[in-house]
Amino acid sequence: METPYTDHLSLEDFEQVYEPAEDSFLLLDALEKDLDYLAELQPHLCVEIGSGSGVIITALAKKLASFSLCLATDINPKACNATRRTAVRNGARLDSIRCNLADALRPQSVDVLLFNPPYVVTSDEELQTQQFDSHVESSTDPNLVFSWAGGQDGRRVTDILLKQLDDILSPRGVLYILLLRENKPDEIIKYLEDLNFQAVRFMERRIPGEHLYILKVTRTSYSSS
Ligand SMILES: C[S@@+](CC[C@H](N)C(=O)[O-])C[C@H]1O[C@@H](n2cnc3c(N)ncnc32)[C@H](O)[C@@H]1O
Repeated sequence: METPYTDHLSLEDFEQVYEPAEDSFLLLDALEKDLDYLAELQPHLCVEIGSGSGVIITALAKKLASFSLCLATDINPKACNATRRTAVRNGARLDSIRCNLADALRPQSVDVLLFNPPYVVTSDEELQTQQFDSHVESSTDPNLVFSWAGGQDGRRVTDILLKQLDDILSPRGVLYILLLRENKPDEIIKYLEDLNFQAVRFMERRIPGEHLYILKVTRTSYSSS
C-alpha cells in the first residue's frame, strides 16, 4: 500500500493537525498486511475515526475504491479539511465529516472501522479543558491536544468508542485500533470478549519510548484470523 503524498500540507497545517508518525505508519502497515482479508470482505463502508491528515483512509480508499465507500471523521475541523485535501492530492474518493467519533453514522453500518486514538496518558483535567463543543467553528492550536491527550490510562476516548462498538460495526464489521502498552491492551481484550467480540494483537512495534499495538476486533460469530 503506497503511503499517500502529504506535500500539500504545510508546517502551519501540522501546527493544527496531527502529523503522521510511527503510530500512523503502523496502522497503515497493519492494513497492508490484511489486504487480502479486506478484499475478500468487500466492505461497503469503511470509516476512519480521527483521520487527522487523512493518510490512512486515503491509502485504504485507493485500494478498495471499486467496492467501498470511504468516510473519515474528526472533531478537529482543520483535520477534516486536511483529510479532504489529502484525498484530492492522491486521487482518492472519500468524504470527511466533522463529528464526535462515529456519531453521524447509521447504526451497525460500518464494515471496516479504523482508529488511531488520542492514547497518551495525561491527567483528566488536561482533557476536560478541551471539551468538544460542536458550536465552535474555528480551530486553534489547542485542538491539537485532541490528537494525543488520552486522560487516565490514555483510554478516555478509546473506552467511549469501545462501549459504542456494537452500535457502530455491521454484523461482519472489523475494527483496527492502535494502542499503547500503557493503555493495558490485555484488559481491553478481556473487556471486548465479555461484549462478544474477539480481539487479537494483530501487529506490534517497539519504537523509542513506546510499545505500540494494533488490535484487530471482530464479532465472535464472524471472527476469522
Ligand atoms: C493520534 S491522532 C491520529 C491522526 C491520524 N489518524 C493518523 O494516524 O495520523 C488522533 C486523531 O483523533 C481525533 N480525535 C480525537 N478525539 C476524537 C473524537 N472524539 N471524535 C473524532 N475524532 C477525534 C484528533 O483530532 C486526531 O486527529
